[in-house]
Amino acid sequence: MKKSKILAGIGLILSAMLVLGACTPNQPAQQPPAPQPQQEEEDDDAVTEPSPEYGGMINADVFWYTFADTFLASVRNSMIEQEAGFPNLNVRHHDSMDNQATQTEQIQTAIMQGTDLLIVNIVTTGAEDVAMNIVDLARGADVPVIFFNREVSDDVINSYADSVFIGTDAAEAGVFQGIAIANFLMDGDNASIFDVDGDGYIRYIMMRGEHGNAEAFFRTYYSVRTANTMLADAGAGITLVPSAANETSSLYADDGISNYFLYANWSAAESFNLVNTALSAHDPTAGDIELVIANNDDAALGAIQALNEIGFNTGAAGAPKLPVFGVDATDIARIAINDGTMTGTVMQDGAGMGLAVLELSNNIATGYNLMANTGHHNIDATAAKIRIPHGIVN
Ligand code: GAL
Repeated sequence: MKKSKILAGIGLILSAMLVLGACTPNQPAQQPPAPQPQQEEEDDDAVTEPSPEYGGMINADVFWYTFADTFLASVRNSMIEQEAGFPNLNVRHHDSMDNQATQTEQIQTAIMQGTDLLIVNIVTTGAEDVAMNIVDLARGADVPVIFFNREVSDDVINSYADSVFIGTDAAEAGVFQGIAIANFLMDGDNASIFDVDGDGYIRYIMMRGEHGNAEAFFRTYYSVRTANTMLADAGAGITLVPSAANETSSLYADDGISNYFLYANWSAAESFNLVNTALSAHDPTAGDIELVIANNDDAALGAIQALNEIGFNTGAAGAPKLPVFGVDATDIARIAINDGTMTGTVMQDGAGMGLAVLELSNNIATGYNLMANTGHHNIDATAAKIRIPHGIVN
């Protein structure tokens, strides 16, 4: 980034949440678990004594939902780099190839081969029985389990003392993305430039992650809510509304926002196909689509590829453009932002997530409980869940 300023923005989030005020999501039937309030400090480090059980090299098996995911590849690469600093860990990485049956078998095999620690990026999110089954396998083998990135419920974590979750505050990315969108639209003449038909509404398409995934739900919900709250408070005279190019899902309560989207499933290829189809029936030069909001950078980049096919967002001087926002701040998205083909993103700290996984793994290797020495992290009050903060990218 040319001028990349990343704020570890707890204060910002809090103020954004205050701005949002009473905006609580409707509670759709299959809504993922809400982000929980965080404890100010973990205060029981002093009581975690090493147990004699371990205290040497351990085998830790990591099961990735798919090696094909761009953001998670960055987490894995950063973990591999950082593993050198943890000589007690022998970490083995497995590709579950987006198949839950494959992942469950891989976990069973690792247990049979005597693994000391399971580290699970679960394939099927939002399905209680799948996560409970993994916990049952871990408990049966008396092996601790770290879930990461793809959230499991508090009930799952609370059902087994030797389990934790390391991920993000799912709402936070949506709030930060909404702030970025509102700031962009309030900058200079952007509101009039990008409200192509000049009707006071910015029609967006929402490229959403998969159903049942907490990050997908809360990013979808809070991005639009936050942007609209900021635009209204500033008297900007424009409002985000869903484009007719979105589909409407009856899976969520009709709050007029969070049930309008296209399921891109975090994938650039799926996003490309969806936006390609949308553009064949909805004309951006007529204001049918005026903004692209994506739950992650890969989906944003897939949308940009589809826009390129109609001459939009090529980065060429004078080329027409839709603002496109993502989440993650992957290397490839940062390049697109520098090239002017993409507009903004939110920093997800993949290296920080990988390091937290290694730190907790090292607790096991050195005879401590999983949650020992975690006082520097944000931890939920209701379950052993660590939240790695996002950053705002300017
Ligand atoms: C999100 C990330 C996406 C994708 C997804 C997988 O945190 O933003 O790019 O990696 O996790 O569930």
